[in-house]
Amino acid sequence: MDLATDTAPPASPPPARRAAAVERGGGPVVRALLAGIGAYLPQTVVTNDELAQRLETSDAWIRERTGIGARHIAQAHETCAFMATRAAAAALADAGATAADVDAIILATATPDEAFPATALRVQAALGAHGFGFDLSAACSGFVYALSVADALVRVGQARGVLVIGSEVYSRILDWRDRGTCVLFGDGAGAVFLRAGTGEGTGRDRGILSTHLHADGRLGDILYVDGAVGRPDRPGHLKMQGKEVFRHAVLRLAEAVDEALAANGLDRSAVDWLVPHQANLRIIEGIRKRLDLPVERVVRTIERHANTSAASIPLALAEAHADGRLRPGQLVLLEALGGGLTWGSALVRL
Ligand code: UT7
Repeated sequence: MDLATDTAPPASPPPARRAAAVERGGGPVVRALLAGIGAYLPQTVVTNDELAQRLETSDAWIRERTGIGARHIAQAHETCAFMATRAAAAALADAGATAADVDAIILATATPDEAFPATALRVQAALGAHGFGFDLSAACSGFVYALSVADALVRVGQARGVLVIGSEVYSRILDWRDRGTCVLFGDGAGAVFLRAGTGEGTGRDRGILSTHLHADGRLGDILYVDGAVGRPDRPGHLKMQGKEVFRHAVLRLAEAVDEALAANGLDRSAVDWLVPHQANLRIIEGIRKRLDLPVERVVRTIERHANTSAASIPLALAEAHADGRLRPGQLVLLEALGGGLTWGSALVRL
């Protein structure tokens, strides 16, 4: 990938002091540049029509209400760690990087393999990487949250190469008898590799320009899993008050995109790509119209992937990158809302 090829100067003096010196001295600001993107999707695809054979639902209802046509479903070997490792390896290869370039791994997931160790560290071992890593739980907002934490690590000089992964196997926490939820989700993983850099020579700021995170724990009961890893008696199923979540999503995501643009002094016309969390086509359309973007400027995967929670944004980025839509210098707006409730945005210059 040639989206971000430059790197910051070597880490001397020690990283934390160097970052502070950069801020004080007014020199180029070190940012997290998007250096590589990768993805993994399970091979098994389940269409709406197949679901309609075992549930009281129809392709027409699912498409009309959500925009979903099919979803990938993990087989037994396709665990969170398995898919995350493949997506991460693809992101590293895309960046022309190796495991030796990874200082930190942040894995956003609501479906880790085990309570501990963190699935991020299963990925670290599989890749042969070092440094540190941890899982992050923010449901469907997980990738935006993880991107924000990674950005902070890079800005303060604590890490120079960070893998940010979203990997989910929601098929294992769905009640397959509940047509109100089980038709909505799919499995998969996406990853980006962030590299510390300044964007020098390109004439403009590049990398993660801003992230904004929000949460309201009082709304925890409108979208949650009624169990936990480590509770074999209660492995847990996803429960959702769909209409309520929908209402909050439309309101909060509209605020989130306005907030991201205002914080950067940018007009909505500056946005080249909207890469939203893929929960419902009607929600995505609402935000698109608010930004006054043509349909072809929105990366949409929901028709084929359904809602893959924390994996949906990096999966969409990977698709748009693979088919050549993403180009250096373009401005990409990411937004997501999920259980918690959690929501947020990230603005990235490629
Ligand atoms: O990623 C995290 C964030 N999640 C979201 O953003 C999801 C937000 N919510 C939504 O996307 C929508 O609320 C849903 C797609 C989940 C549901 O759409 P809705 O327009 O809010 O439908 P509803 O839940 O009000 O259900 C309408 C009707 C009901 O029947 P009655 O009571 O009107 O007779 C449901 O029982 O549709 C029925 N229904 C279904 N019918 C066929 C619910 N699920 C299905 C189904 N097939 N799969």
